[in-house]
Formats: sequence, C-alpha cells, structure tokens
Amino acid sequence: MRHFLSVADAGDINNLVEDALRLKARPDLNRRFAGKRLGLIFMNPSLRTRVSTQVAALNLGLDSIVLNTSGDSWQLEFAEGAVMDGNTVEHVKDAAPVLGSYFDILGIRTFPGLKNKEDDYAEKVLNAFVKYAGVPVMSLESATRHPLQSLADIITITEYALLQKIKRPKVVLMWAPHVKPLPQCVANSFSEWMNAWGGADFLIAHPEGYELDRAFTGEAKVIYIQEEALQDADFVYVKNWSSVSEYGKILPVEGNWMLTNEKLESAPEARIMHCLPVRRNLVLSDEILDSERSIVTAQAGNRVWSAQAVLSEILEDNF
Ligand code: CP
Repeated sequence: MRHFLSVADAGDINNLVEDALRLKARPDLNRRFAGKRLGLIFMNPSLRTRVSTQVAALNLGLDSIVLNTSGDSWQLEFAEGAVMDGNTVEHVKDAAPVLGSYFDILGIRTFPGLKNKEDDYAEKVLNAFVKYAGVPVMSLESATRHPLQSLADIITITEYALLQKIKRPKVVLMWAPHVKPLPQCVANSFSEWMNAWGGADFLIAHPEGYELDRAFTGEAKVIYIQEEALQDADFVYVKNWSSVSEYGKILPVEGNWMLTNEKLESAPEARIMHCLPVRRNLVLSDEILDSERSIVTAQAGNRVWSAQAVLSEILEDNF
C-alpha cells in the first residue's frame, strides 16, 4: 500500500481486519518502524480521528505531530495557476513538499464545500497532497470518503457478528435527520467498503431525494420505507447525509426518520452504529444511544486498530 485514500487501496479487506484484530490483542506487535514521523494535517475539526490516529502512532512507536491548518497555519491555495491576491497565502505546490520533507507519512483531513459536486468529487485537496508531498498519504476523511472509519466499521461488524454467532449479517445503512447539511463521505465510503467486502447482506434506506452516487453504492438495494428496511436487521448504521442530486441541500422529508425502539420491534437483536459525533434526540434518541443495542463506543474504539493496521501496512510496504 502506497497511499490509503479509498477501499481500492485496502487489498484484501478480511486480511486487513485480521491484522487490526491482531494489533488490538497485542498493540505493541509491530514497532519495527519506531522513530518514523507521521504528520497529521487537519483542515477541519476532529475528536476521534485525531486522537485514535495518534494513539495508533504511539503504539507503533511513531512520532506524530498535528497541524490544524484552519487557525494555526497559512491558508492554502489549491487552484492551478491562481493569482494569489486574495486570502490564500501559500500554494499546496509549495506547502506539500515541505511537509513531505518533514514527515515519512502524511495524514490529511479535508471536508467538502458542499457547494459544487464536481469540485468536491474531484478530491482536489487530497489529490494535490498525493501529487506534491512525495510521501505516502492517508485520508483522515476527505471530500467524498472516510476509509479509516469504514475499516473500523467492518472490524466492529466482524467482532459483533462473531459474538452473536451471525454467519452473514443483514446490515442497513439508514439515513437520519439533521439540522445542517452534512457531507456524504461516511455513507459513500461505508457503501463502497461493504460492496467490496461482501461479508454481509447490505442495503440502504433513506427518503426519496437522498440517493447516494451509484459510483459508491454500486448495485446495493435501496429502500424508501424505513420499517421495511429494518425487518430482521442485525446492524443498523445510522447516518445523516445531504442530497447529492440537489447537491448539499436539506430536502423536505415526510415523517420522522429518527430511529426509536418502537421502530426496531421487527429487529429485536439489531445493534446500532454511528460514526460519531451524533446529535442526540435529533439523529439518534437517548433511548437507543443509552441502551445495550448501541455499539457506537466500541465502533469508535476500533478507530485505533483501523489506523494502526493501515499505518503498519504503509510502513511495511514503503520503508
Ligand atoms: N467519526 C469521526 O471521524 O469522528 P471525528 O470527526 O471526531 O474525527
């Protein structure tokens, strides 16, 4: 693995999950690359990604440094040929190779603008770092994807399916309401990882108008009736995303899509997932988040092993 930008870089997903679970059992298993330097560049806020990746780096003996570019650094320009007479102070062409000279691996977090689908879906920011940094780049969530999250999600499903002796779980990605337009990254990424993994019966449920781009969802079944989708589900991954067709907009929706215990009567064993952060009693109710059904903390905990497995593979393959 040179870069980690999407499921296409993951190779065999079951092998990566096994590696992650081995590291979870023995966090100090691979310290051959102690002293290598990891730069974590955050252009947007984070709690889990920032800390879990740093913990993963610690476990591997790496030195990691976080740079928050929103306040702490020069505002970067990404447009080719830009006349930089506005707010941007430094071009990525200049900044990325400098960072590449300081670090052995770079992690980049950058959110979409949600104004222009073409711009966002071209992944200009992430690709600019890949082009100019000269070192391996890992996505810490980009304009269209969140692959470290998706790997942690599959690790979590694998663990709980084993625990509950489920051979082939039914996994539902379910849209939920929100007051702000949110990126499609987590839903896109989870869909493409589920399709590539193939270890579950996967379907997507959302109100009409919230169809994701088929480039990510492939042939996944889409259901517009929440109760129908929930029937006998083993895992329900709740997540809001804004519209793709009316790009970045919140559309009017009939009924309340917030999940409740009542709606889950047809899926009594279902475990509830969310990538966090979650707005309580808007996206997910207290009654669910505070119940045994919720596995959101375990899911977030697995972000460490997801990051550690990916970092290990990048280190093994490049140094
Ligand atoms: N799930 C996730 O990426 O969380 P953060 O935004 O806190 O990193």
